[in-house]
Amino acid sequence: MEAKNRASLTYRLRYATRNPARIGPYARRLARDTWLRARARDHVGYYRSVMRSDTARSPYGAVGSTARRHWNALGRLQFDYLAGHGLKPSDRMLEIGCGNLRAGHLFIGHLDTGHYHGIDISPDILFAAQDTLVEYGLQDKLPCLTPVRDLRLAFLPERHFTVVHAHSVFSHSPISVIEECLANVGRVLAPGGFFDFTFNRTEGEEHHVLREDFYYRTSTLVGLAREHGLDARFMDDWEQGNTHKQSKLRLTAAT
Ligand SMILES: C[S@@+](CC[C@H](N)C(=O)[O-])C[C@H]1O[C@@H](n2cnc3c(N)ncnc32)[C@H](O)[C@@H]1O
Repeated sequence: MEAKNRASLTYRLRYATRNPARIGPYARRLARDTWLRARARDHVGYYRSVMRSDTARSPYGAVGSTARRHWNALGRLQFDYLAGHGLKPSDRMLEIGCGNLRAGHLFIGHLDTGHYHGIDISPDILFAAQDTLVEYGLQDKLPCLTPVRDLRLAFLPERHFTVVHAHSVFSHSPISVIEECLANVGRVLAPGGFFDFTFNRTEGEEHHVLREDFYYRTSTLVGLAREHGLDARFMDDWEQGNTHKQSKLRLTAAT
């Protein structure tokens, strides 16, 4: 795993020299983000505005898949991984940052009726998620899709979910948001349940780019989980045989 710091001036200058065509789009993104950040109360408010702007252009692009083929493949990758780890129809799943159900539609199809709950800070992407439900004819599975202001999870029942899943959410989150989630997820996990999440891993300095993409050391997240009574396991098998750039940790109640 690399140790490069994408936020450093040297990295950015070198990247710009090698990719001159990307300078224009980057400058536009920087201007938009500066504008949105100036108007937002906190990170969640800012990121909700980013999602509103991106979803208006394309809900697929907003979750990181400009091409529909990529959207299908990324959904399948997440589903196959959990199915390979024994995801059963009787499991009760909470998906944090469910987006427009890239993987969610496959989880909903597999799980028993009423066993899927997706939450997201972006109402706009949840409207797009409803379109996905219609497209795949999943209305009878009665999934819950709930907009949230934070990750305190206070409105969810205790010890309920056997699987909690967050793909490509902490890669867009400052440490305060991750900590809030880790401080509260243990309460909603059923006995024996687990929480899988992906993150951008760095072996070097932790950093972020445009407050949209965050890079963490594994030890930081493992330590934070431990502070909140959770054991963390690094999922090597996630990185074998797939080209997805993020790493995965699995958290369980500490023994
Ligand atoms: C890159 S998309 C991934 C969506 C989905 N997990 C997938 O793989 O298709 C990130 C999603 O996380 C949501 N998100 C970002 N920060 C969040 C937070 N603090 N709480 C809940 N959702 C969040 C965004 O609105 C967006 O829908």
